[in-house]
Amino acid sequence: MNIFRKRSVADFKEAIEGSGLKKQLTAFDIAALGIGSVIGTGIFVATGQGAQLAGPAVTISYIVAAITSALCALTYAELATMFPVAGSTYSYTYVAFGEIIAWIIGWNLILEYTVVAAAVASGWSSTLVGIFEAYNIHLPAMLIKSPLVGGMVDLPAVLVIAFITWLLYIGVSESAKVNNIIVFIKVSVIIVFIVLGATHINVANYHPFSPYGTKGIMSAAAIIFFAYIGFDAVSTAAEETINPKRDIPLGLTICLTVIIILYVAVSLTLTGMVPFKEIDVDNALPAALRRIGITWGSALVGVGAVIGMISTLLVTIYGQVRIFMVMSRDGLIPKSLARISKKHGTPGICTIATGALTAVIGGFLPLTVLMDLCNIGTLSAFIIVSIGVIILRRTMPNVERKFKCPGVPFTPILTVLFCFYLMYSLPGVTWIRFGVWTIVGIAIYFLYGARHSTLCDSTNNLEVNKEENKEEI
Ligand code: ALA
Repeated sequence: MNIFRKRSVADFKEAIEGSGLKKQLTAFDIAALGIGSVIGTGIFVATGQGAQLAGPAVTISYIVAAITSALCALTYAELATMFPVAGSTYSYTYVAFGEIIAWIIGWNLILEYTVVAAAVASGWSSTLVGIFEAYNIHLPAMLIKSPLVGGMVDLPAVLVIAFITWLLYIGVSESAKVNNIIVFIKVSVIIVFIVLGATHINVANYHPFSPYGTKGIMSAAAIIFFAYIGFDAVSTAAEETINPKRDIPLGLTICLTVIIILYVAVSLTLTGMVPFKEIDVDNALPAALRRIGITWGSALVGVGAVIGMISTLLVTIYGQVRIFMVMSRDGLIPKSLARISKKHGTPGICTIATGALTAVIGGFLPLTVLMDLCNIGTLSAFIIVSIGVIILRRTMPNVERKFKCPGVPFTPILTVLFCFYLMYSLPGVTWIRFGVWTIVGIAIYFLYGARHSTLCDSTNNLEVNKEENKEEI
């Protein structure tokens, strides 16, 4: 058994032709998918947590995390336009490094997608509960908290995941439309926050600007990175994009530019409005507006946050479904998951299975446990992507790259250094959890994937897949 067996670009082309997915997304949809995925719990919740670690210099943390994300986006865009398939880093790694590394990356992408989605659903639930409580409506604790924090199940988190799963099940076109509307609402309430807050900035709150120095800034950046997770989810939509080679890099650029401007403006405004030690870590933006007496603005931003997080969930679960689908097509997880519903043109079984998994994680594990693992899993995937760009420039120099990452090998090397520094700034316990997660993943590969991979029978495996994908579910 060769655990380093690789896929070729030709494999992807055949698989794409047989996938049955509709090509219907434009560059605008891609940018909206990115913004929809990225802006969520991070800006509404993590800003307060980051400010506790870095003080007003949390703005610098946002910039450090943004530089890291922009570097990652450059390397990502090169691979995404080279291989316009739905599997994201997982698929690129299959070509560059071989099967077992691809599996480990696919396994770690569960942290970036399913666990992030569960974390956002959990944050969504607590934000919603906060709005109810502001109006003296108290929901039973047993039904709004997970077992580890004194409840039975986080029911709002489960219900919102079920709703998103249904949207994705009925089809990407409808989901993209819903997403575009939500993105508009989300960006609007953030602009409302900046405009209202900017008139109440007290310059004294910026002194001292960096009370905990570089260490504080980097620790905050490692947390803040969560706020940028998701921009790469757009590359998982490559198979459904009308012109992926043009629209993926364009969509990514628009998306990141908008996000960086909004985040820097929000963090500067927040730390100028409220002394950093007094920022509400659970409900940072609405609480800051309430503190300065703008109650209607607080309610508006709270409701906007709750609506906005829905699109983060939508895109994140969408991304996970597509990654599972590709892994299933490759035989590393059961093949029935790759079947495309003829009626909706979406991978129905995979969508429902992913929704169920996310609901269990989001309903029964607390936010703190979930958030821990998201960043380390995502950063590790970005490191592999960057190394992949360098290797593929040597091993596949002739494959067309519509978008070429500038400054190779220096840009990918810089990306690796930034990612690693952020990983290094995360707590030790996160590294231990990540190690255990990776070992469990490797065990599953040897028990299932290594034996069921379609590369075990490389002569006709893709034909088999194509037939299976056409079946109606
Ligand atoms: N970037 C996403 C958020 O902030 C995960 O919610």
